[in-house]
Amino acid sequence: MTLLASFASLVAVHAAAANPLTVTSPSGNLRVEIEVSDGVPSYAIRRGDEPVLIRSRLGLILREADLTRGLAIVDTARAARDTTWTQVWGEFGVVRSHYRELRVDLATESEERPSRAPGRGSLPPVTRLTVRFRVFDDGVGFRYEISAIDGRDSVLVQDEVTEFVLPNDPAAWWIESYQNNRYEYLTNKTRASSITVAHTPLTLQCGDNLFLSIHEAALTNYAGMSLRRAAEPNESAGDSRNAVGLKADLAPWSNGDLVRAALPMRSPWRTVQVSDTPGGLIESPLILNLNEPNRINDVSWIEPGKYVGIWWEMHLGKSTWGSGTKHGATTANTKRYLDFAARHGFSGVLVEGWNVGWDGDWFRNGNAFRFSEPHRDFDWEMLTRYASRKGVRLIGHHETGAAIENYEEQMADAFAMCERGGVCAVKTGYVSNDPDVQQPAGKSVPPGEWHYGQFMIEHFRRVIETAAARHVMLDVHEPVKATGIRRTWPNMMTREGARGQEYNAWSGDGGNPPDHTTILPFTRLLAGPMDFTPGIFDLHFDEYRPRNRVNTTLAKQLALYVVIYSPLQMAADLPENYEKRPDAFAFIKDVPTDWRATKVVHGAIGDFVTIARLDRQTDDWYLGSVTDEEGRALATPLTFLDAGRKYRATIYRDAADADWMTNAYAYVIEEREVDADTNLTIVLAPGGGQAIRFTPLD
Ligand code: NOJ
Repeated sequence: MTLLASFASLVAVHAAAANPLTVTSPSGNLRVEIEVSDGVPSYAIRRGDEPVLIRSRLGLILREADLTRGLAIVDTARAARDTTWTQVWGEFGVVRSHYRELRVDLATESEERPSRAPGRGSLPPVTRLTVRFRVFDDGVGFRYEISAIDGRDSVLVQDEVTEFVLPNDPAAWWIESYQNNRYEYLTNKTRASSITVAHTPLTLQCGDNLFLSIHEAALTNYAGMSLRRAAEPNESAGDSRNAVGLKADLAPWSNGDLVRAALPMRSPWRTVQVSDTPGGLIESPLILNLNEPNRINDVSWIEPGKYVGIWWEMHLGKSTWGSGTKHGATTANTKRYLDFAARHGFSGVLVEGWNVGWDGDWFRNGNAFRFSEPHRDFDWEMLTRYASRKGVRLIGHHETGAAIENYEEQMADAFAMCERGGVCAVKTGYVSNDPDVQQPAGKSVPPGEWHYGQFMIEHFRRVIETAAARHVMLDVHEPVKATGIRRTWPNMMTREGARGQEYNAWSGDGGNPPDHTTILPFTRLLAGPMDFTPGIFDLHFDEYRPRNRVNTTLAKQLALYVVIYSPLQMAADLPENYEKRPDAFAFIKDVPTDWRATKVVHGAIGDFVTIARLDRQTDDWYLGSVTDEEGRALATPLTFLDAGRKYRATIYRDAADADWMTNAYAYVIEEREVDADTNLTIVLAPGGGQAIRFTPLD
């Protein structure tokens, strides 16, 4: 059907069409139903007979038109695709993208024009909203598209009414949005009905074997979405008494606008991953599959790897970012780290505090940062030459203090300087309370911008593209959440966006509790890699901060290299602490950061998780298993290994009497021969972990 029909007849034709429209996943396990009832569009998701989401509203309210009501389906189109693509780096080598698509075009009468527009005969003008659904076996994505409205080149989104209505008030793991500290909070576990407004990914357990993650993919030119609990689920959800409605909540600009969208516009994909186990959420590539293919032609310069750095020593207070007698980023100290990295096979050395800007109240005055001006005691020219002689790269650091204009003025030159010096990666930082991102320079009076509003999303994209043009990889701290952009821009390697290891060094709340890393894999990490910075061997650092500590056993620090994926993975502790324990350090030196396969062996959110990953370059498998404050013995079948092959398992485990609180350094390293038929019992101490390398013996 085309628009060459009157609105009234469009409605009439639609009334005769299938209502609801359905589209199923390739295997038929998931079904999406879309309907328009009294002009209001909605969707629902079912898995077999079970409701996953019950009738949930769709639509956008633009300043120019209300696209939530008075709508009719005027056209539909179906498509199906089954392709594979190769990750430049990642948790899976080859990814299959297999889905069925349904495009639904909705139209409303235009509110802007007279109903008889000149030049169009007697046809009333209509405004079109397309909702495109892609249904995979592991979940559903849908997005809004608007191609044109009355010859305008832009529209203003004033609300997105998208709902996710959950039957039976499921258990939810969530952190609250619109807080000062961005995404850096411990996770709440409550019923969904207790959610106020939550960041995504939001993880839900709806039944013994029904787990969901609601998130978004390809967040570009739009505002980040949180999920706000609706006071009452919409009337159409009346078929479930315990239903909880969550509604899209877009982070506003400082002036209250939500999204300033150029036409044609496409929203990010709204995603619902569906799995019968919590581990299935980790194995699902849905977020990546809903992003555009790689746009960087020559990816030879994009290299995952491991790094050490002048970093933890500042967090401990051993040295400072600013200049003076305790300055960490001196030429001599950087050489020490470069030598250490070269000796132990690390590809990078991060240096924080190398540049001008740290000496005042940098937290409040990001405008002082100079991204091409080293401190006087940091010999940039000499150190970049020294690094390249040693076969190691310096990793740059651009802390912006969230003074965005100041950074944007300098970043092209700064990345060019990195390219000239062989600095292949830069860690960026955007420390500031929310919503206090400074725009324009000098303005720091709240309300500023949110780290996840459209202003910052567009800034982050400009940085990715500017860095890519100079062959620089990125590790972003205080970022916007990951939404799979790394597929399109594979120089966007890793990011923070959660409470990382650093909280153990200085936070006043006791640091990250033992269960933190048994929750992250099922929540934050579903969005993408995290620069958590594992590998602390001196868990107490009494010399520097006697009131703080890392709340794990040492073996658990090793297991985190497998459990928490990052293509740039830090060995975060001081070199002297690694040199004291070369046997355990061997695991950190060996473990890869680029994988051909990822399998979740078992896991219970907040209790324990065991992940096995296959090295991209060899046939070695690695396994990491971590627990919360409870000790456990986990029966672990090694069925992920190749059948018929023998492997040497090098096991780094908690000793029998290890305990994170009282005996954290007690670990045992042992070898045994195993195969795919072996049923290994992984014994984890309270707050403990285990790391294993499996090497084929043939
Ligand atoms: C916060 C980051 O998370 C941390 O890694 C960095 O050292 C400081 N900001 C200073 O930039």
